[in-house]
Amino acid sequence: MNDHRETAPAIRDGHVLLFARNFFRHPRMLGSIVPSSRFLIRELLSPVDWTRARVIVEYGPGVGVITAEVLRRMRPDALLIAIETNTDFVAYLRGALTDPRLRVVEDSAEAVEEILCRHGAREADYIISGIPLGSMPGALRERILHATRAVLAPGGTFLVFQFTTRALADLKRTFDYVARKFEPLNLLPAYLFFCQTATAT
Ligand SMILES: C[S@@+](CC[C@H](N)C(=O)[O-])C[C@H]1O[C@@H](n2cnc3c(N)ncnc32)[C@H](O)[C@@H]1O
Repeated sequence: MNDHRETAPAIRDGHVLLFARNFFRHPRMLGSIVPSSRFLIRELLSPVDWTRARVIVEYGPGVGVITAEVLRRMRPDALLIAIETNTDFVAYLRGALTDPRLRVVEDSAEAVEEILCRHGAREADYIISGIPLGSMPGALRERILHATRAVLAPGGTFLVFQFTTRALADLKRTFDYVARKFEPLNLLPAYLFFCQTATAT
């Protein structure tokens, strides 16, 4: 079940250049000049139980390096909803990743509840995020974190990577448990936060 495909779906040549070009246009929205490394992706996805993941959401897929790996690992009947604000990335992803289990939505992560609803889902088993929570306005961060908590299924996990610990206090305030890791093997070494809510006993 885990690896029903041998290789990740194709990401076209030129994706790194597209990412870098967009970094110079929107440095605060991207936070990094290159996409995430395979080391960071592996650590970020390490807590996922692929057998139970039916609905997965990704915030800020960029040029899809994490998206492609999630598609490679996820169940044949699972749904992946990728929410991205950047029009260039949305167009690129829709052309490069044609997997029928993927929906690419051009919107901001704060709209996750309504987006899930539109796709016939009420909650998500995993929400993966690389959006720069620490450098966005506090009110926007707050709305995204509250919407995320509202749609996270019982036992679900919010998997976050950040280049600073600035968002950590808000993550701790919003979620009941936050586990931390650090991944040095990325152009910008990254903090990983795995957030969960207490499940009713
Ligand atoms: C650090 S990049 C990560 C890209 C990709 N996930 C990776 O790991 O290489 C952050 C991405 O989040 C997107 N983004 C920023 N704010 C967002 C928001 N509020 N909602 C959805 N996407 C957002 C940016 O356009 C960018 O593609």
